[in-house]
Amino acid sequence: MHVVHTIAALREVLAGTPGASFVPTMGNLHDGHLALVRLAKRQGGPVVVSVFVNRLQFAPHEDFERYPRTLERDCELLRQVGCNVVFAPDERELYPTPQRYTMQPDPDLADILEGQFRPGFFTGVCTVVAKLFQCVQPRVAVFGKKDYQQLMIVRRMVEQFAMPITIVAGETERSHNGLALSSRNAYLSSDEQARAVQLSACLREVRAGLAAGVVAIDALEAQALQRLRQGGWLPDYLTVRRQHDLLPPLAGDLGASVPLVVLAAARLGQTRLIDNLEF
Ligand code: PAJ
Repeated sequence: MHVVHTIAALREVLAGTPGASFVPTMGNLHDGHLALVRLAKRQGGPVVVSVFVNRLQFAPHEDFERYPRTLERDCELLRQVGCNVVFAPDERELYPTPQRYTMQPDPDLADILEGQFRPGFFTGVCTVVAKLFQCVQPRVAVFGKKDYQQLMIVRRMVEQFAMPITIVAGETERSHNGLALSSRNAYLSSDEQARAVQLSACLREVRAGLAAGVVAIDALEAQALQRLRQGGWLPDYLTVRRQHDLLPPLAGDLGASVPLVVLAAARLGQTRLIDNLEF
């Protein structure tokens, strides 16, 4: 496995190889990331994983500085799952001058949900993803459904710019109690860890309610939000949306079995977690 830190070295190790399968990450890898790497391996070509904590997608008050950086351990795990190339640039390599050209995603998709609570977040994500795509020039790129809106926005970016890249989605990996794996779970105290399962449990309750024929989505959402607040969470949103455009379902959508997804973001102490469930 090659570990490279510069764009030039990356291009050198990839020269003459078939199109790569690429997994962008911010490191501090867990089994969710590793599942994406395994999925990337099945797509053919060398597997490239980037590890880069992207300042552009963090607001000044967010956790950029304390985001866990564990490159050595990440490389060990990546070696074990058969990754071929780790691209771990530092900030001066990826942003040698302030990044003044940015990728502006469709506001209809990017200013809602996460974008409403983290203004500019998806501009930061799309800018770095587009730049990483230029560095790696992959044939396939793998993203997790854990970050549902991100996956959708990246898909649209690739479509709208006719980027010659196939986007493949990986399912959300969870611990035995349902908690979606996340690098930010490391911030949770043991008491918070025990309570963190409530987020996915609330999503499952909303899904069960809809499956049982409840049509009052607002009431299901309000009930779930109330339960989170009772458990000590500060929810940003918990909402049922249509999978294809992330807009609230219309009355007719329920009967027509339009595919839906329930998405949530909530803070437990200092830690903000997100999760979602398709149905
Ligand atoms: P990061 O949070 O490190 O996630 C990297 C990839 O792993 C994303 O595609 C994310 O959806 C996926 N992932 C995270 N947790 C997962 C889980 N439990 N199961 C399955 N996949 C999971 O997302 C980012 O980094 C950044 O925004 C990035 C795309 C790298 C741009 O900076």
